[in-house]
Amino acid sequence: MKLDVNRPDLTVGVIGTGAMGRGIVQVTAAGGMNVLMTDARPGAAAEARDFIAKMLERAAEKGSMSKEEAAAATARITIVDSHKDMKPCHVVIEAIVENLEAKRALFGELETIVTPDCIMVSNTSSMSVTTIGAKLKTPQRFAGFHFFNPVPLMKLVEVISGLLTEEWVCDALMALGKRMTREPVRLTDAPGFLVNQVGRGFTLEASHLVYEGVSTFADVDRVMRDVGGFRMGPFELMELTGLDVTQPASALIYNQFFQEPRYRPNLIMQERYEAGVLGRKSKKGFYDYDADMKAIVAAEKPAPAARPESVWVSSVEVQGSAKLKELLGKLDASIETGAKPSAQALILVTPIGEDATTAATSQNLDPKRTVAVDTLFPMVKRRTIMTTPITDPAYRDAAHGLLASDGVPVTVCRDSPGFIAQRIVAMIVNIGCSIAQSRTSVPADIDKAVTLGLNYPNGPFKFADVLGVQNIHRILENMNRIYADPRYRPNIWLTRRAKLGVSLLTPEL
Ligand code: NAI
Repeated sequence: MKLDVNRPDLTVGVIGTGAMGRGIVQVTAAGGMNVLMTDARPGAAAEARDFIAKMLERAAEKGSMSKEEAAAATARITIVDSHKDMKPCHVVIEAIVENLEAKRALFGELETIVTPDCIMVSNTSSMSVTTIGAKLKTPQRFAGFHFFNPVPLMKLVEVISGLLTEEWVCDALMALGKRMTREPVRLTDAPGFLVNQVGRGFTLEASHLVYEGVSTFADVDRVMRDVGGFRMGPFELMELTGLDVTQPASALIYNQFFQEPRYRPNLIMQERYEAGVLGRKSKKGFYDYDADMKAIVAAEKPAPAARPESVWVSSVEVQGSAKLKELLGKLDASIETGAKPSAQALILVTPIGEDATTAATSQNLDPKRTVAVDTLFPMVKRRTIMTTPITDPAYRDAAHGLLASDGVPVTVCRDSPGFIAQRIVAMIVNIGCSIAQSRTSVPADIDKAVTLGLNYPNGPFKFADVLGVQNIHRILENMNRIYADPRYRPNIWLTRRAKLGVSLLTPEL
């Protein structure tokens, strides 16, 4: 390593002191390093310093550091007038406007100012590190250092090597990230890097299924919280981030991957983006908001009182039917034991990646009496059922009433290969696999980055372990077959491991 980032006099430059820059300055100073910071807008750096001083004081009040440490950290921050004053820096971090020409101009100037061993990094959220560095005379000491907002609370930092970045640079950035009390994860340059790429699985697949008329924004959010275990549903998340950020980022990742169908956005997001219906920041998005900015969400309709006279459960899916029969037993349902359903029976199927129509027709079941139940996820906090386009509403209500009879809410969706949660989680796993396949990062690091950066209950690979690698593979295979859309083709890296019956976290020999 050419640079010892643990040297006591390490000096870090931060250019751009907006939302991200000031957070980066705070964790750098709190990590014991000297910081030189500057901003093009007069007065901006001083505002940032006052803000950071307050944040550090607050951290001291909360007991995460002493008053003396907070004061010392603030004292380590120096405002400088221009990029020229960055000469003494060992590392310079750029957090200016997200514009390629502006960033290239800045680094082109900077490399003539700093010493040859000084590391130059960009906090870009969406641009290729290789592209930003391509015009530099010294691209080998240039890398990506991608923090998350708000920096002091979000521990993850992605350390991104561009095509020409030398290894010692990322070694140094990994150590620097730790000194800043971050959790650095190393990867090679890729559109959306790591976390923002995986995040497309969650938000885009959710939009696709609403676009298809499978469900509503509120129901998808409920299912992903209660069934998938996510802290926030995909639409709630997009409301918070704002479609002015999410939609251009999605379109960019899709195009940077040469229109790879896995990342294909859709009109649900684009139209809202163009109409300025952005989410909380425009007071209208997928949800409307009341005067206190609380989302107005229509209450769920109470479950019907109906119950079926008898239920017949398809045993084609061995695990799913066993799980469902166990639950139905607890609900005191009258379960038929014949090889075929009686003429009146409610017919329940438990498909993996198939829609109710395909399950009913391929098993020669009466589609008017068929209802599908998602048994892949725990059926504890909420249950998801779906109908064929011709399921008799009386049978749908009977299934709903029965499955909600112990007080657990039930979401009814229209026909969809993979219901709601199966297909969204399968897409997250599939994207995780393509990141591993392209050697952008390794599975354990991908899981770590996703849980830290996106707060998902599991990273893609742990999700596959919990739900079954073969189940995830089957969801995608069935979706791919039924939709005939390459968007859903299983990644071959996943297919191989599903065939071999091994965990996706198995290290490759
Ligand atoms: P911001 O708009 O809050 O701050 C940017 C600051 O840079 C402003 O204070 C502006 O005056 C200053 N600036 C602009 N051009 C400059 C130049 N040529 N020289 C010096 N200062 C200049 O933006 P924010 O959100 O802090 O983003 C900064 C960078 O971080 C962008 O590249 C963005 O994509 C990236 N990023 C943003 C995240 C976010 O959630 N806001 C997350 C991760 C990365």
